Amino acid sequence: MEATDTAFRTVAWSGCQSRLLRDSRDREDLAAYRGQGGYRPLADADELLREVESSGLVGRGGAAFPLGVKLRAVRDNGRGAVVIANGEEGEPASIKDRWLLRNRPHLVLDGLRLAAAIVGAERAYVYVSDVDSARSVEAALSELDSLGMRVDLWTVEPGYVAGEETAAVRAINGGPAKPSDKPPRPFEAGVSERPTLVSNVETLANLPFLQRHGSAPFRAEGTALSPGTFLATITGANRPPVLYELPHGLPFAELLALHGVSSERVRGALMGGYFAGLLNRAVLDTTLDHETMRRFGSGLGCGAVSLITDDCPVAVAASVLAYFDRENAGQCGSCFNGTAAMAAVGGALRDSVATKEDLGRLRRWSVVLRGRGACATLDAATNVAASLLDQFPDEVADHLAGTCHDCSHGAFRADRPYQVEAVS
Ligand SMILES: Cc1cc2nc3c(=O)[nH]c(=O)nc-3n(C[C@H](O)[C@H](O)[C@H](O)COP(=O)(O)O)c2cc1C
Ligand code: SF4
Repeated sequence: MEATDTAFRTVAWSGCQSRLLRDSRDREDLAAYRGQGGYRPLADADELLREVESSGLVGRGGAAFPLGVKLRAVRDNGRGAVVIANGEEGEPASIKDRWLLRNRPHLVLDGLRLAAAIVGAERAYVYVSDVDSARSVEAALSELDSLGMRVDLWTVEPGYVAGEETAAVRAINGGPAKPSDKPPRPFEAGVSERPTLVSNVETLANLPFLQRHGSAPFRAEGTALSPGTFLATITGANRPPVLYELPHGLPFAELLALHGVSSERVRGALMGGYFAGLLNRAVLDTTLDHETMRRFGSGLGCGAVSLITDDCPVAVAASVLAYFDRENAGQCGSCFNGTAAMAAVGGALRDSVATKEDLGRLRRWSVVLRGRGACATLDAATNVAASLLDQFPDEVADHLAGTCHDCSHGAFRADRPYQVEAVS
């Protein structure tokens, strides 16, 4: 299945039936969604919770946390729960959440309704920053009589940290869309101090399939630890971005073939958006699932993969570190000082004016800054720094010596490397 209803193509893996993408150029309205069997009455919320648990569905927002565990924790934390469908998608190299919200808003709202029923919520939010997503959700809500609870659309200014779960809660509570210290986590005390489920919109979009078909058919695709299909935004290699729906566990080499990029050209990839750092050509031996990516010291995260072909990995890493320096929320000393220091060394290395001592400091920061700060932005920055040093020692040495061939005519520079333009 292939569609070009947006500026980028969407392609579903032909080996399995598409669950999330839709083979149409039009935004799916209520009649079309109902025609596909959407908004089925829910007879037994406990039974659906058990199906979610046995499905092994893990979150698609980046951390791959089991949805069933989160649902049960929020449900058990008492009455008056709140659900947030997180569609902020601060990751510049990802388009999947905006695609879902713009094209299949009812699929997301149906998932939100089912999650709310499981945790007993009477209040829900769709949290976005993209204007077209907001319009699409508004239109979808106006088509519906009721979802059995109050649903509000909550819009914020876009930002890398705005989609972090405590930032979403803080914004809805009337504060800035910036992370706050944990504990408490949202499932303990979130919106108005109530137990709050924050789930990525793609995660929620899997619930109608589970309601309709159950956990066994869900597990028919994917691996034991990463069941189901997932949305993958593939950028880089000087090609237009494509949004794929793929079964977890697909060999990376097969994705490359589908994308039409020769493995010979691939030097590596920036994984999980900007979060999981760089992988060298070892990426060619991976399969696209959370457990394999972890084994390779990387991560699938939100499913965004940027292929590095002609660009120099040192220059790519320098751009991403500079991005974190600009986009961190400026709240935690370790983070705004740490990202600034790592970005400075990254830039100096790209420009071949860094010293061995600078690299020693970058290495040390990539270890000691891990886990610091209110959110995981520093982890993302340390992932990029450490993976550059570990995965691309020859390129780092070339830059130290000023002999990088790729950068001799001007190094790769981008404010937001591999950003997917928000065109609809
Ligand atoms: C810096 C940072 C930014 C994040 N941005 C997003 C985002 O834009 N969208 C999202 O769904 N999750 C984002 N997350 C993850 C959320 O905190 C949270 O784990 C997620 O929304 C939970 O949904 P899931 O369990 O369905 O993945 C971010 C996390 C961090 C640390
Ligand atoms: S760790 Fe960084 S990005 Fe996260 S809240 Fe603190 S300053 Fe902001």
